Amino acid sequence: MANVAERNHYVRPVLDEGERIEIKKGRHPVVEKLLPPDQPFIENDLTLCNSDTQIMIITGPNMSGKSTYLRQAGLIVLLAQIGSYVPAGKAHIGIVDRIFTRVGASDNLAFGESTFMVEMLEAANILNNATPQSLILLDEVGRGTSTFDGLSIAWAISEYLHHNKKVAAKTLFATHYHELTELALLYPRIKNFRVAVQEYQDHVVFLRKIEPGGMDNSYGIYVAQMAGLPGQVIERAREVLFNLEANELSPNKVPRLAKRRAGSRADTNQLSIFDFAKPSEVEEELKKIDLNQLTPIEALLKLKELKEKLTSG
Ligand SMILES: Nc1ncnc2c1ncn2[C@@H]1O[C@H](COP(=O)(O)OP(=O)(O)OP(=O)(O)O)[C@@H](O)[C@H]1O
Ligand SMILES: [Mg+2]
Repeated sequence: MANVAERNHYVRPVLDEGERIEIKKGRHPVVEKLLPPDQPFIENDLTLCNSDTQIMIITGPNMSGKSTYLRQAGLIVLLAQIGSYVPAGKAHIGIVDRIFTRVGASDNLAFGESTFMVEMLEAANILNNATPQSLILLDEVGRGTSTFDGLSIAWAISEYLHHNKKVAAKTLFATHYHELTELALLYPRIKNFRVAVQEYQDHVVFLRKIEPGGMDNSYGIYVAQMAGLPGQVIERAREVLFNLEANELSPNKVPRLAKRRAGSRADTNQLSIFDFAKPSEVEEELKKIDLNQLTPIEALLKLKELKEKLTSG
């Protein structure tokens, strides 16, 4: 440990039994080693305190460094408590009794548990066992199910951790649900943080700096494009996103995802699949007519009758 600390410029943390964790210029001990030489690791501060900043809601684009920030906090606390120096400029660690994590999807399909089930089992374990002395790292809880279900669960978990004295642990919660930033308006010990980015012409620069505030853009499509998804998919995704963000809900409150930007016919004029399946009254009548039995004058009268049916109904 002394060797590692010396080589990697770790510092000696101050430990006490207080309720505060304060890290200045913290680094992730592994990620900082893996970055290419021309890409420096960006240091970040962290202040958690039960009576003030108990829960940090961290929003920010994909690839911005949220997960790294969470894990680095957990690792620094762990290193401090096993007697090591830590990768930071300065660290004051109020000793924790446990570090709970809910990070990434770990499937357990062979044992009859789905991705989402595992996620919920882990969340349940945390909520049933955490204490005010614990540190909880929640990385995107709720992503394994539908947006509304997931968001509701994430919201309720945050409230539970905030309100319930027995489990009011220091918590870092990274999320793409920007709706969760509203929690900070309601509750005194929930604070919003975001990972800064800079939009530059048509691309995004990841600054990887954690700062106070919320963020409501995930730049997910931009990251998908960087990853090499076909241009057609990217373009279509942008269209669907545009519809979603315009909050275009159909009368029964279902987003009109399928709508294309050009030729936006009103929903009521659109023939649904069921309309096609069920023939109209006029179509039924037409089917019944025996052309061989019809005189020209009867045909004309029938035509008039059908036309009237269409225009009146
Ligand atoms: N502080 C940092 N300094 C430099 N590079 C970083 C830093 N934090 C993260 N990175 C780089 O960015 C990559 C993505 O980070 P990370 O996985 O934490 O993003 P994320 O915000 O959790 O993304 P997602 O929303 O997709 O989960 C890391 O693999 C690492 O290479
Ligand atoms: Mg992440």
